[in-house]
Amino acid sequence: MAPFRTARDPFVYYQRHIFFCLNERPNGEDSCAQHGAQAGFAHCKDRVKGERLAGPGGVRVNKAGCLDRCAGGPVAVVYPEGVWYTYVDKDDIDEIVDSHLKNGQVVERLVLPPNVGR
Ligand code: FES
Repeated sequence: MAPFRTARDPFVYYQRHIFFCLNERPNGEDSCAQHGAQAGFAHCKDRVKGERLAGPGGVRVNKAGCLDRCAGGPVAVVYPEGVWYTYVDKDDIDEIVDSHLKNGQVVERLVLPPNVGR
């Protein structure tokens, strides 16, 4: 893994934090939940746990509600870099885990264009 500040650093608890929009609209309007968001989230959690990246000083994978970038859904965002991704399948999630969450390398092909909003 790339060097990072540890949990002993009072300003850092997780090296990276990824949030997945899992929003589902009950009225049937389009939302990330209709585009495989739950499967992407679950696969990311499994991979991060399997790679022993989870926990303080490592990576945290969290559910989120609507992140207001629905037109690019399903979406996820990685902090502290603030990089937004869209993904299609488990291979995309694997690439985000292996490249960005483990090594800090942005997966350019999956980056959500800045003009994509709700
Ligand atoms: S429904 Fe996922 S960003 Fe809005």
